[in-house]
Parts: sequence; structure tokens; C-alpha cells
Amino acid sequence: MLPLNILQYLFLLFLLVGNVSGVGVNYGTIGNNLPSPKKVAQLLQSTLIDKVKIYDTNPAILEAFSNTGIDLIVAVENDLVANISGDPSTAEEWFTSRVSPFIPATSIVAIAVGNEFLTTSEQLDPTTLAPAMQNIHSVLIARGLDRKIKVTTPHSMAVLSSSFPPSTSTFAPNLVPTMTSIVEFLAETGAPFMVNAYPYFAYRDNPSRIDLQYALLGNSSGVSDPKGFKYTNMLDAQIDAVRSAINAIGFGNRTVDIAISESGWPSKGEPGDMAATPENARTYNTRLIERGDSNRGTPMRPKDSIEVFVFALFNENKKEGGASERNFGLFNGDGSKVYEVDLSCKFCSVTEGKLGFGERVSGGPRGASVWCVAKPHADEKVLQAVLDFCCGPGGVDCREVYGSGACFEPNKLHAHASYAMNAYYQMHGRNYWNCDFKGTGLVTFSDPSYGACRYPQQ
Ligand SMILES: *[C@@H]1O[C@H](CO)[C@@H](O)[C@H](O)[C@H]1NC(C)=O
Ligand SMILES: *[C@@H]1O[C@H](CO)[C@@H](O)[C@H](O)[C@H]1NC(C)=O
Ligand SMILES: *[C@@H]1O[C@H](CO)[C@@H](O)[C@H](O)[C@H]1NC(C)=O
Repeated sequence: MLPLNILQYLFLLFLLVGNVSGVGVNYGTIGNNLPSPKKVAQLLQSTLIDKVKIYDTNPAILEAFSNTGIDLIVAVENDLVANISGDPSTAEEWFTSRVSPFIPATSIVAIAVGNEFLTTSEQLDPTTLAPAMQNIHSVLIARGLDRKIKVTTPHSMAVLSSSFPPSTSTFAPNLVPTMTSIVEFLAETGAPFMVNAYPYFAYRDNPSRIDLQYALLGNSSGVSDPKGFKYTNMLDAQIDAVRSAINAIGFGNRTVDIAISESGWPSKGEPGDMAATPENARTYNTRLIERGDSNRGTPMRPKDSIEVFVFALFNENKKEGGASERNFGLFNGDGSKVYEVDLSCKFCSVTEGKLGFGERVSGGPRGASVWCVAKPHADEKVLQAVLDFCCGPGGVDCREVYGSGACFEPNKLHAHASYAMNAYYQMHGRNYWNCDFKGTGLVTFSDPSYGACRYPQQ
């Protein structure tokens, strides 16, 4: 067990921040010197990285991440989108052969349909994207997996016709019909709008006009938007530009979360690229990780925290394009760090071990034992609403807290709500936002079970 003072500390911390966040990373594999997926899974278990996004459904990776407590986002490759779009049975087949064999041991929480599908140079039909997402979603509904596994698609910033000033940004006119279908789908299914955003490229191509600190997620003196928002860094401005474009197609009062599916900074570029240095990469990625691990929003939506996937886990030596493309990694192929960046997990391991391949890390696998309960002095009105929600539309089986159930006693709203909140949290993939419940939920490391009343774990 953890010493009491640590528990108290964690408890206070959760009380203060309200939820636990984590950081995602993109695990690309276009290299001939990369470690085995098993080694990668081991490495990541000792870090604050709790979500891994891949670009396919590589079975070795899906297998390696089973029972690790790390969530995976898998992808439908661009060249499969048209076929899946045209034929529901192709979607079914894809899911059955690529994903089904690995769940639930591997926690797959999202399927990215295509990558930058609407803006790649390949000849791809934009009208196939939304129906492909819908067909995959239908497969999930049929299997009762649609709550656990979200369907989305990562875009590049090039889907915007302009990104500045952020409040006036819109999607490129030719993409509006497709974007409208996609955003509608995301709003209905509760999936995030994913965008790949790289202040690095903007700075690299315009170093004399852009403040380096503004690009590096620093505290630049700021850029003002005509609507009064003030931006101290470019990534925030990019996120709000996407927000405005979404609002402009008429979804202003519906919630669509924005997630940064890729962002990063290379440690090396072409000769003459002054931006791509290990120092800048370290600065950007350190701040990006800090940002992903915090609950901060953007000037337009200060309270909506932004999920972040760092690009990328490894330098990929076989990637095409300029030198920077092969140097976005936090790690080299041999598992050593490209530069010093702190990935230690403040929540999942008491003793911080040294990170890196071949070094033993103390502390067990992260995420194995974690529950969600109601905060001690949570507002009863909210708790009642939460209980009604969980046991109704939330889909929790609440028989244990009724009548003769093992968790009926103590017959207290707080206890019943805790049970339902935990069941909901476990069922929905244990994302920190699944234990928010309007600020009444609390993530805990001690098992709230008592007597015959067992709080389920994922
Ligand atoms: C898509 O379907 C067509 C027709 O069945 C097939 O010829 C083609 O190989 C498929 N494409 C992919 C990428 O599987
Ligand atoms: C920016 O300033 C805020 C408030 O002064 C501070 O909390 C934060 O750490 C600074 N961020 C960076 C990246 O310097
Ligand atoms: C959203 O906005 C539209 C148009 O302004 C309005 O008709 C609708 O009632 C609003 N919906 C909600 C849920 O607020």
C-alpha cells in the first residue's frame, strides 16, 4: 500500500484539479531500427503517457498493449476508406478481422478513419469519409461498443481557408458540405474533432515574422484577436481557429471537443533550418506535455481541456520528405532519449524510476487499480441527477444499489451515486472526463468496495 501521506497528497491534488488527465503519443513505425512493440509497451507503462495513437491496426502492437492500462487509438488507412464507405459489410469485415480479436484485453478507445484524408495529395474522394465513419460506427452500435470506442478522423490545418484571426476562421468552402456531415456525426456520437497542428512549420517558413516564443508554446507578449481574445501562443490560436470554423457551420451551441491528434517539433531539419534544434524540440514538447497533462483550455473556451497526442514517439528513419520528417521523435530507435524530456508519471507510480529501455522501473503497471467515487461533500442535487443519468441513459446496471442489491446499504444517495459513477467510469474506458460528473466525481486509488458490495473494475 501507499504510505498515508501520499494518499492524502493525491486526494488533495484530485480535489484541486477535479480530474486526472494524461498525455497521448503518436507511435509511428516507419523505421527499420525500432524496438519491438512489447518493449515499447513496457517503456510507456512507466510514464505519464496513457494513450497511444497508431496509424493502422498492426496486430503486434495491439497484442503488445493488452492489459497495460494504456488506451489505444487505431486507424483505418486512407486507402481503405472508400471501400468501407461504399459497403457496410466491408466495415464489418474490417472490424472483425482487425479489431475484434484484441478486445477487451487491449483497451481500444477510438478509431481514426483516415488521416488528413481531405487534404492529402493522393486522389481521394472527400464524400466517402463521413459515410465510412458512419459505417464503422454502425458496426460498433451493433456490438454494443459505441460508448467505449469513438469514431473520428484527424484533419490537417489545411481544412481551414484561413486560420487568422482565430475568431473569423472558416473551413475551406469546398469542404463545407463534408465538414458539416462530419461535425454533425461527431456531435451526435460524442467523439472529438481531431486536428494535427504544427506551429513548427508556420515558424520555419516565416521565422522573421513570427515570435519564436509564440511558436514554442511560450508566454509571448501576445497576439490580439478582434473579438478581444489574447493569444500568447500559436497552438491556442490554431485550436480556436478550428473552434470558430466549427461554430461557423452552425454547431455553436452543441458540444464538440477538439483534440490535438498530432503536434510536435523536430530536433533536426535540413541544413539552414534554424528552428529544428534539440533545444527547441525539448522546449516545445515539454510544454506540450505539460499542457496535455493540465486542464487548461484556450482563450475562447478556458474550461474545455484539450486532449493532446505528441508527435512522435520515435525518430522514424525511413520516412520520406525533408530531414525534419525523420526527427520528430522523443526517442531514438535504440530507446535512448533524443533530448531530455520529463515523462515521469506523477499519478501512477510512487517511486519515480529512470525511464528508458533496459532500465528497471519501480512501481507496477499504471492504471490497474483506479476507481471513481462521489466527492465527500458533493451537492446532493447534482448527485441525484448523476445517479439518474448513470442508471438511465448512461447505461449502468444499477441493480446492486436497488432493493436487495449488495450495495443498497447504506441507503444513502452519496453511496449509491458513487457506485453508479464508478460503473460508468469503468465502462467508458476510465478516461478522466468520465469521472467528472459536473465536478462531483473523484478518481481514487483505494478500492471503495465493502462487505459484499464490489465496485467493478474494467
Ligand atoms: C476495394 O474494393 C475493390 C472492389 O471490390 C477491390 O478491387 C480493391 O482491391 C479494394 N481496395 C482495397 C484497398 O482493399
Ligand atoms: C506563463 O505564465 C504563467 C503565468 O505567469 C505561468 O504560470 C506559466 O508557467 C508560464 N508558462 C510558460 C511556458 O512560461
Ligand atoms: C441552438 O441554437 C439554435 C439557433 O440559435 C436554437 O434554435 C436552438 O434551440 C439551440 N439549441 C440549444 C440546445 O440550445
